[in-house]
Amino acid sequence: MEASSPYTFLSLIFFLLLTLKLFSSWLKQPKNLPPSPPSIPILGHLHLIKLPLHRTLHSLSQSYGPVISLRFGSRRVVVISSAEAAKECCTENDLVLANRPTSFATKHLGYDSTVLTLASYGDHWRNLRRICTLEIFSSTRLNSFLPIRRDEIKRLLLTLNKRTSSSPGDFTKVELRSMFLEMIVNIVVRMMTGKRYYGEDVTNVEEARSFREMISEILQYTFGGVYPGDFLSILRLVFRDYEKNVSRLSKRLNEFLQNLIEEHRASSKKGGGRSTDTMVDHLLSLQETQPEYYTDEIIKGLTMVMVVGGTDTSTTTMEWAMSFLLSNPNSLKRAAEELDSVIGQECLIDETDIAKLPYLQNIVSETLRLKPPAPFLVPHMSSEDCTIGGYNVPRQTTVFINAWSIHRDPNLWDDATSFKPERFENGDDGQFKFLPFGRGRRACPGEDMAQRVINLALGSLIQCFEWKSISEEGINMPKGVQLEAMCKPRKIMARIAEH
Ligand code: HEM
Ligand SMILES: *[C@@H]1O[C@H](CO)[C@@H](O)[C@H](O)[C@H]1NC(C)=O
Repeated sequence: MEASSPYTFLSLIFFLLLTLKLFSSWLKQPKNLPPSPPSIPILGHLHLIKLPLHRTLHSLSQSYGPVISLRFGSRRVVVISSAEAAKECCTENDLVLANRPTSFATKHLGYDSTVLTLASYGDHWRNLRRICTLEIFSSTRLNSFLPIRRDEIKRLLLTLNKRTSSSPGDFTKVELRSMFLEMIVNIVVRMMTGKRYYGEDVTNVEEARSFREMISEILQYTFGGVYPGDFLSILRLVFRDYEKNVSRLSKRLNEFLQNLIEEHRASSKKGGGRSTDTMVDHLLSLQETQPEYYTDEIIKGLTMVMVVGGTDTSTTTMEWAMSFLLSNPNSLKRAAEELDSVIGQECLIDETDIAKLPYLQNIVSETLRLKPPAPFLVPHMSSEDCTIGGYNVPRQTTVFINAWSIHRDPNLWDDATSFKPERFENGDDGQFKFLPFGRGRRACPGEDMAQRVINLALGSLIQCFEWKSISEEGINMPKGVQLEAMCKPRKIMARIAEH
């Protein structure tokens, strides 16, 4: 008893403080909050969370309405699940909601949340966004990277062609997921650093492997789940492993990116004149004239954010588009007919052709509608009190805009859960019922680039190969299962392989 008494005393104080805190937060409870499911003390609604989060939030909104309020431990969360409320968030409230919530992982992996995706709204973020728009995503820049996109897509076609060579004239089974991922990672990484991390001409296999691992770990720690320690600091004692892992990863990541920069610096010194082909080279040359702004940290952060934001999103879109086409042979047939009539089998589709291929574009849109890669966008946070749907939303509230839920709203979409690219034919994407890239200030800056890559790659695959699913019933693709398909080269493939 003796030994435990100081602890009893301490825990008594702890509970007293906790009661006081709960009582005062109850007194301070703002009026007219959005509807909320019953919560439990301290945890709030944390116990309701099951992954995947967008589905949990969707089913809560089915019972409590299109604007609901939740508490994740000590944090207030508002979930938006209607186009109308989303519109309010991205127009009147766009500025108020232009912040991002922070977490243990974003602080440690995102250079103290200063990288583009995570920075609070303000001068620093505006500058990063400007650099991005000018130096990476402007049409001039994107056009200058076109040879990279062409080359990687062509390599994908040639690899597929090689796999089918053992059974000429017949269908061959191929696995697509890893091929898509490798193509996209190569496109983004080559644009940033000039390196290829997969396939032939890979400069350093070990480096490539370690980079891929880091990216998937980052995604897992930032968007892959909910870390309870972010919501109740006392739980951090229980989840020591998580924090150790994140810290270790953050150190590895920083060393990796720093090495990358040093390499570019060294090679430009050695070569006399600087090569300005890659983004990192380009940012380093800006560093010479404006060293106070284009710091190493800014360059490292931008490099990381491009790879993290651009690779898995584009890859899953490619995978789902292909898997929808395999299970909807009529859509596939229509896409092939469109390609045949607009381009034919003499020369390979190029980026400028995409504008002439509306059905292909609609396939990509319909895929993004049913399977938005960022189902609840990237969380926003309010910097001031505001109102959404007539309810009060206090400052410092995390706001999830559940695009997944809006994209499947039966009031907005006919036969909402079916794959029907035709539905986009009459321009039926009223701004706020379709928002896979978000809207407003924080919307995805990579949309144009993603559209170019995905449409061109998908168009090339349909132009150059015949496809069918491995089973007659069509396939569905549960997560973690490989995407397999049967393919057979078309006439044009022989022509491409010759060159
Ligand atoms: C199919 C592909 C993609 C989808 C669906 C997608 C989706 C999104 C979404 C939903 C957001 C958050 C919007 C919001 O907060 O309201 C976002 C932000 C962002 N995306 Fe993308 N994205 C894609 C491709 C890319 C690519 C290719 C890049 C770069 C190479 C990229 C870079 C970024 C960055 C840097 C942000 C943060 C912007 C900010 O916070 O200011 N994304 N993206
Ligand atoms: C931390 O990393 C180890 C080994 O890398 C892994 O086994 C463990 O599951 C990770 N823990 C968490 C909470 O992520």
